[in-house]
Amino acid sequence: MRILILTHSFNSLTQRLHVEISERGHDLSVEFDINDSVTAEAVSLFKPDVIVASYLRRAIPEEVWRNHLCLIVHPGIKGDRGPSALDWAIMDGEVEWGVTVLQAEAEMDAGPIWASIPFTMRDGTKSSLYRREATDAAVQGVLLAIERLREDSFIPEALDYEKPDVRGTWHPLMKPEDRAIDWSKDNTETVLRKIRAADGFPGVADELYGKAFALYDAHPEGTLRGTPGEVIGRRHEAICRATRDGAIWITHLKPILDGERSFKRPSSLTLGSELEAVPEIPESDLGITWREIWYEERGQVGYLHFPFYNGAMSTPQCRRLEAAYRRACERDTKAIVLMGGGDFWSNGLHLGAIEAAESPAEESWANINAMDDLCRAVITTESHLTVAALRGNAGAGGVFLALAADRVIATPGVVLNPHYKNMGNLYGSEYWTYLLPRRVGQDGIPTVMGRRLPLGIRAAQEIGLIDGCLEAEDIGTYADRLAGSPDYADLLSAKIARRADDEAEKPLEAYRAAELERMRFNFFGFDPSYHVARYNFIRKVPLSRTPRYLAVHR
Ligand code: COA
Repeated sequence: MRILILTHSFNSLTQRLHVEISERGHDLSVEFDINDSVTAEAVSLFKPDVIVASYLRRAIPEEVWRNHLCLIVHPGIKGDRGPSALDWAIMDGEVEWGVTVLQAEAEMDAGPIWASIPFTMRDGTKSSLYRREATDAAVQGVLLAIERLREDSFIPEALDYEKPDVRGTWHPLMKPEDRAIDWSKDNTETVLRKIRAADGFPGVADELYGKAFALYDAHPEGTLRGTPGEVIGRRHEAICRATRDGAIWITHLKPILDGERSFKRPSSLTLGSELEAVPEIPESDLGITWREIWYEERGQVGYLHFPFYNGAMSTPQCRRLEAAYRRACERDTKAIVLMGGGDFWSNGLHLGAIEAAESPAEESWANINAMDDLCRAVITTESHLTVAALRGNAGAGGVFLALAADRVIATPGVVLNPHYKNMGNLYGSEYWTYLLPRRVGQDGIPTVMGRRLPLGIRAAQEIGLIDGCLEAEDIGTYADRLAGSPDYADLLSAKIARRADDEAEKPLEAYRAAELERMRFNFFGFDPSYHVARYNFIRKVPLSRTPRYLAVHR
């Protein structure tokens, strides 16, 4: 079947659909929703059997939906309509939610239903629910709709609010007033719900030190108390604000600037000297608090969690993670599992922190060196066998950090972007020139690095980029087996011997030096591509055309 994906951007859901639809052998192309005439042109060039609108911010042009079957992916249950579906579901405390695939018609989200897949809500942010539950349901729904398209007898279900399973209703666009926090009235649960319902876009607009900011990535604090709304502590780059009945940690802020595109950055970088008098609160093992990195041990296995916001790893975060990793290596265990976070395993350098720095070039340099030091610590580990367990997507340097481990496993549905090219032709480091050929051979390098496209777990396994795919609940069993393997001692000594042989052939530092020479040129050279790409990416500057590697019809 010829399938055209029409989307506002190549976001995580669209990438996952791209992977799943291509794997099933369909002819696939992508067009960004730039304007009506570009969309119409794409349709006439590609001549699709069906158009799948995975993520749109405006209506499909009438001439397109009247003449072609257009299936809209709506992150809501049957009957739910409107542009803020998940936002309202979180605010209203819905327990059962879903994704509906419906046919585009004149009235928004009111067309015939081709598939509707339920899921159970979780106490997560909107973007986390979108990336996990909603994306899984959307994939299931779109694939089902594609199958149904082949069945002559299938008739999509007209929307009928009289039916008992049509529970949804129309919801308007959620406005800043609906999200606003009243620090004197709202309790911690309400504040958290409001921030979660607005994360990662548009964030909750609020005021701090007389300036306007959008708030992101909030976590409960169990012990600290203070005047509601006031900043009462800081930890690493996060701030703690008191609520009426408790306190919350906020890791990222976006300054709201009139008429200017702004971007998210670590809270302390945003507030700077305002925080001088605010006390630093050390992590405590007592009570509920926010930890950006945590370690747990079960049997002979240590698990290191690092759910950094959006998978972005700033210089201090890399340093703290390296220190935590080294502490894990001192434990009397046999295997260490690098767990990353549930939404992202890692997306490499923290481009927001870099963009906010006085010198983005210098900060890029510091960040890549901190990342490389972390990778080196993993690559050169002789005390343990190591596993990178990807339960969320990984991109750019984040993928190569995973390859530093002895084993790389991923849960179904994870999407990898193992390339740097999309960030202004960044050369990349993280010892990829050492790690990648070990896994895919010299011949496999262009497939991985030159493709620019997301890679699904099946394909990643086929080319040897990762070792296996298993459900999240089986990671512990996998690690226990490795740690308890009768061959454990042999496996460990074989890895040490291989590293020594590799080192003798070409020292790790030589790989790093060569990579960093190219990176120095990316950061400090005459060609500004990386700085321009980062500026646009982090501010979400819309593209004026769909890249050719996606729009194959062009
Ligand atoms: N630094 C800072 N923020 C990052 C980031 C990074 N390295 N990678 C992703 N993000 C942010 C995005 O800005 C976006 O922010 P939002 O919450 O405001 O929407 C969010 O994470 C999700 O990213 P998005 O691009 O929507 O996720 P995706 O799953 O659709 O795409 C990638 C994944 C990896 C393709 C894409 O995020 C990417 O290209 N990231 C940059 C990777 C990179 O070049 N790193 C630096 C070199 S090591």
